[in-house]
Formats: sequence, C-alpha cells, structure tokens
Amino acid sequence: MSICSARFWIRQPAELSAKGRGPCHCTDEGGAQLLLYPPVHDCRCNGREGAVRPKIICHMTSSIDGRLLVDRWLRSEIEREQVGATYDRLAARLGADGWMVGRTTMADFASGTPRSFSGAFPDLRKPFVGNRSGRSVAVAIDLHGKLHYGQDNVLGDHVIAVLGQDVSDAYLAELRHDGVSYLLVPARDEGGAGSPESALHDAMAVLGETFGIRTLMLQGGGITNGAFLKAGLIDEISLVVYPGIDGLAGVPCIFEYHGEPAERPAEGQSLRHMSTETLDGGSVWLRYRVERAAAKR
Ligand SMILES: NC(=O)c1ccc[n+]([C@@H]2O[C@H](COP(=O)([O-])OP(=O)(O)OC[C@H]3O[C@@H](n4cnc5c(N)ncnc54)[C@H](OP(=O)(O)O)[C@@H]3O)[C@@H](O)[C@H]2O)c1
Repeated sequence: MSICSARFWIRQPAELSAKGRGPCHCTDEGGAQLLLYPPVHDCRCNGREGAVRPKIICHMTSSIDGRLLVDRWLRSEIEREQVGATYDRLAARLGADGWMVGRTTMADFASGTPRSFSGAFPDLRKPFVGNRSGRSVAVAIDLHGKLHYGQDNVLGDHVIAVLGQDVSDAYLAELRHDGVSYLLVPARDEGGAGSPESALHDAMAVLGETFGIRTLMLQGGGITNGAFLKAGLIDEISLVVYPGIDGLAGVPCIFEYHGEPAERPAEGQSLRHMSTETLDGGSVWLRYRVERAAAKR
C-alpha cells in the first residue's frame, strides 16, 4: 500500500491529461484510494503512478543559534561523545531504514582510495542493488562521484551512492567491485531538465521504487539539507538543540541553501509542532512536521 502524507490538492484532470499525466494510485493512511493528479499534490509518489519516495526526516544537532559545527560549541571531548550518543539514541527512535548525507559529510567516513578494475560489469549505468543483507543504509549524495569506499559499508551500514550522469564507467566499476549500491540521477527529458531540485526528486523516487527505502534520516550537512529544503523533500525535522552558542558570523547553519538573495528556500513550507523533550544536560529535542502550502491555481 502506498502511504501519502495526506495533504493534497487536485487540479482538473483535463489540464493534466494535456501533459500526458494521469492520476497516481496512492492511498491515504486508512487505505482509501486517492485519485490524485501529479505533480500538483503533496504525496510522495513524485508524479509517478505507484512510485513513492521515502519519507525524509532531517535529523540534526545544533547550538541555540542553529550552527552545525559541534566542535565549536561543545566544551570537551567527553561531552562530544555524550552528545553523539544522544543523537544516535534519538535517531533510533525515528524508525528509519538508514541515513543520508552530503558528499562532504560522508568524506569523514569513506576511507577508500581510487582504484581501477579491468573486469567488465553488465549494465553499469543502471541502478545497482548490492547485497544489503538486512543492514541499515548509508546514502551518499555524491553527484560528481568523488568518494571512494573500498568496501560496501560505512560504520556497518550498506552504502548507496546517488550519482550524477557525468560519473565515469571506471568509477562505477570501482563501486561494483566494492559491492556499493548506486543509482544515477535519471536524465530529464522535459520540464526542469537538469535542475538540482528535479534531480533530487528523481533520485529519491528511485530509492523508493528500486531500493524499497521507506524512511530516511537526512543528516546534513547544511548545504545538502538546504538543497533538500529547497526541493520540498523534507517531511519532518528532528533537531537536538544543545545549550551552547557559536555566535560567529558566517559559520554554517543546519540549512545552507546556496541561491540568489531574493530566493526563499523554505517558501510555501511551514512547521507544525509534533513534540518537545528536555534531555539530560539541558538539550532540547524538537520535532516538527513540514507542511506544504497548496499550489496556486
Ligand atoms: N551538527 C550536525 O548534526 C551535523 C550533521 C552532519 C554534518 N555536520 C557537519 O557539517 C559539515 C559539512 O557540511 P556541508 O554543508 O559543508 O557539506 P555537505 O552538505 O555534507 O556536502 C556539501 C557538498 O555537497 C555537494 N553539493 C553542493 N550543492 C549540492 C546540491 N544542490 N545538491 C546536492 N549536493 C550538493 C557539493 O559537493 P561537490 O564538491 O562534490 O560538488 C558540496 O561540497 C561538516 O563539518 C560536518 O561535520 C554536522
């Protein structure tokens, strides 16, 4: 059963049939079928019949001024371990299939080196589903294929690399040799071709359809969170606010969309409070659902 996030609006079918699109067949949380006309509604099928992208929960730790470089505001290494343990314990409560990070953040965990392999692998440029073996997944948004793993996991979680079309066959052969799963962001033939937002939407749809991922934690950094925010792909925010202040102008925040001054990456999205928990040491765990406004007719 497909589960939508149940905040929908519908345009006239004729308007969409002119674009060659039909309704999706998602169901609401009670199982009732919803005849929704993509791409103007807010379900996670991404405008594809029967396709559902994962629910995406942005799970982060910040200072009270929203900055994400933890070493700048934690007082000691012991405290760093405690904050990390708390972050992981709360993450486990989110019930996700795994986590997803940007290229820079994953570089701290991907410790392989570039290698070349002569063996031919079939269908190199199609999504490759490696042997996950029941493990959680670690999804890397690495559009230029800069990361090297040397194994099929980081921290014991099976790696899925999200890549751009310009990565080389040699790089893909290295991932295949290592057993790393991957997908190439599909090429777009019309409407928004090549836009970062459409690329992320397409990639998330493949994670849902081909890899069967239902819920993912988006765990930074700020640039990647910002790209997902702008794309309207964040469904919930789970933020652990530590009682510390960074305070220095220019230090990155948990959302760092790189755009033009007039752009508002969160436009049309508002937050509905879900819960607040006060934690040991004075940190606060905030959870919000992201609600998207109806599209203008
Ligand atoms: N406090 C926390 O909870 C938390 C969580 C995670 C990370 N962090 C910290 O955050 C820092 C890294 O943050 P960051 O924002 O610099 O890095 P990031 O989001 O992990 O990765 C940034 C990279 O993503 C690529 N990129 C740029 N635009 C993109 C787009 N529109 N869509 C997809 N990818 C795009 C670029 O890589 P290319 O150069 O390859 O193009 C860019 O360098 C680290 O210090 C890390 O420790 C903190």
